[in-house]
Amino acid sequence: MPVRRMRLLDLPCVMRIERACFRSEGYGIGVFLAHLARDYRGAFVAENEHGEVVGYVLVRRSPGWRRPRRGGITSIGVAPIHRRRGFGRALLESALEYLRSHRVETADLEVRTTNAAALSLYRALGFRFSERLPQYYGEKGDGMRMVLDLRAAVSSAGKGASRA
Ligand SMILES: CC(C)(COP(=O)(O)OP(=O)(O)OC[C@H]1O[C@@H](n2cnc3c(N)ncnc32)[C@H](O)[C@@H]1OP(=O)(O)O)[C@@H](O)C(=O)NCCC(=O)NCCS
Repeated sequence: MPVRRMRLLDLPCVMRIERACFRSEGYGIGVFLAHLARDYRGAFVAENEHGEVVGYVLVRRSPGWRRPRRGGITSIGVAPIHRRRGFGRALLESALEYLRSHRVETADLEVRTTNAAALSLYRALGFRFSERLPQYYGEKGDGMRMVLDLRAAVSSAGKGASRA
């Protein structure tokens, strides 16, 4: 599943995906530009078999000198007609690999409590409930924070592999 770093030239496509996923609640292009300016390595896109950008993920991490090293998922989205084909999982796996490569110990994210697809994806990759966030999305709904211990995730993946 091809996942690569986001480039400035991807932004028109990424913005179309953002609007399709989040409508008026989506980030504006300024958020993407600021993210790329801060850490252009922490943004990935997924391409389909025709080389079209069909999804993206933005990854955040604390400065390298800060301990413990923390990071998380700022946003992830896959174009509606390309969902359920593994792009979301591939993007999230790339994001977590990126955080591990920077020795980030804990990853977190916020998600709407009613977002069944995202919750299921996050749980599938090991994220667990951490905290309820009442009205995190204003009047439009509650959120929750989920966390993943990246060190534990690595060691349990290792155990699984050794059983195979
Ligand atoms: C969440 C999202 C990124 C998932 O992308 P995707 O490419 O469809 O996900 P994948 O095909 O990689 O699915 C991976 C796993 O996630 C879970 N999942 C994904 N969509 C699901 C759905 N609609 N219902 C239940 N589980 C779902 C499943 O466990 C799935 O594994 P499976 O296909 O083997 O059952 C996508 O639905 C999306 O862009 N939603 C709108 C934006 C959004 O809500 N972003 C998250 C904000 S916190």
